[in-house]
Amino acid sequence: MSSTPAPRTREAFQSRYAFILAAIGSAVGLGNIWRFPYVAYDNGGGAFMIPYLVALLTAGIPVLFLDYAIGHRFQGSPPLAYRRMARAAEPIGWWQMGICFVIGVYYAVIIAWAGMYTVLSFTKGWGKDPKAYLFGDFLKLADKPGVEFSFVWPIFGVLALVWLVTIAALAAGVQNGIAKVSIVFIPLLVVSFLVLVVIAMTLPGASTGLDALFKPDWSALTHPGVWVAAYGQIFFSLSVAFGIMITYASYLKRKTDLTGSGLVVAFANSGFELLAAFGVFAVLGFMSQASGTPISKVAGDGIGLAFVAFPAIINEAGALGIVIGVLFFASLVMAGFTSLVSIVEVVVSTVRDKTGWGRVPATLAVGGAMAVISLLLFPTTTGLYLLDTSDAFVNNLGIVGAAIASMVVVTFALRKLPELARHVNSVSSFTLGPLWYFVVGGLTPAVLMYLLINDVIDKAKNGYEGYPGWFNGVFGWGMSAALIVIALLMSLLPWHDRSSLHQQATYEDQHVTEEELA
Ligand code: ALA
Repeated sequence: MSSTPAPRTREAFQSRYAFILAAIGSAVGLGNIWRFPYVAYDNGGGAFMIPYLVALLTAGIPVLFLDYAIGHRFQGSPPLAYRRMARAAEPIGWWQMGICFVIGVYYAVIIAWAGMYTVLSFTKGWGKDPKAYLFGDFLKLADKPGVEFSFVWPIFGVLALVWLVTIAALAAGVQNGIAKVSIVFIPLLVVSFLVLVVIAMTLPGASTGLDALFKPDWSALTHPGVWVAAYGQIFFSLSVAFGIMITYASYLKRKTDLTGSGLVVAFANSGFELLAAFGVFAVLGFMSQASGTPISKVAGDGIGLAFVAFPAIINEAGALGIVIGVLFFASLVMAGFTSLVSIVEVVVSTVRDKTGWGRVPATLAVGGAMAVISLLLFPTTTGLYLLDTSDAFVNNLGIVGAAIASMVVVTFALRKLPELARHVNSVSSFTLGPLWYFVVGGLTPAVLMYLLINDVIDKAKNGYEGYPGWFNGVFGWGMSAALIVIALLMSLLPWHDRSSLHQQATYEDQHVTEEELA
């Protein structure tokens, strides 16, 4: 094409290795260690593996490839990448960025709790009744959902620290910040977690826990809710359909094996997820045996599992308990931190593309705004209720909704799947063909639409967790709708550099061109 390639302006990962580690760092997060084990257990135990694998193969990996293709071909944060694809598609990118904004502000507080519990593990500072400690002394949880700006100062302080470190990592840039964070923490995480799993497997009662996890309840497969849980878990866990993988792929050099990298990331993530389930349930089996309580009583919901059951186990396990506690909570911090970095980067990258600001000012503005909202809402006596509702609506409904919008618009309105597939195939080892068109352009959006409608009807009819209607109305439905309205409004605002939206020379120089694709 052009004989004088324009200088590359977008930041880049220095190697495929750095990208793969950063992508694994994003994928392996609280979702793997904290969420997957109890979601699997609640949804049929061993039988959950079937919807989980179906969701991984028909939705997780195909949508991961779609995100990579969009980010790599159109070289932008989600709004810019969609805008370059077609003007009318820009709001999808803003919607994805909005989801990251909301998830980021509450995700950070779970990391803060885990950090504090790492320290508490040394002295078993939660005392004899970890549940009373968590909801009482630690969170000072209000009796009912609401919005009280009454702060729990120790959590406030640690949360502020989480934000400072996150902002510092992001300000250092794609290679020196984002990639380095994962290069350091992912190997540490894998080693800590392997040690934890080995210790857990040797505890008396471990096999009872594993039996409970893997004893299939086949009837669960007939419940649509189980399938929603599987798809929701896969999207959140793989970090797909909410902009992260589009953003990371936009930092890749031109000739990078996209599908090969994607398969490594997807299987590493699911492998870690299974490892976490093994470790967590072996420990619960030990607890069940030591306390004479059935597993179903030991394994609580998400928060209970990590912050109630684990401290209880640590109390039972003597000195080994301290090792288990420190390894478990430190693993949560490391896994959560590398994911938080990726979530906030979507917003930073978007602001940079839209305004033309440099990395440092954009990171300070975005990180500062997110930190302020996070600090105002979550280290409070009502923070847990807000977290729970935001997570149920924006995480589950929002991500699945954005996934459907992306697949339907790209396939039917823009008819871009063949171009994206040719782009991916021109640089990748594993090629995309009719099967990919079929799942991304038919099967998966249809299944997801069915599941989403069911979930919306269920929440509309039955509410969520018995919280008051106004609370779910504002922070659940209201927030979900607001993200869509904001996305539409943001896409009306001007871009700092309009020429970049159609910038053929720079664009073609950095990309595989149509001629090369033909
Ligand atoms: N993928 C990240 C997680 O699993 C967001 O927590």
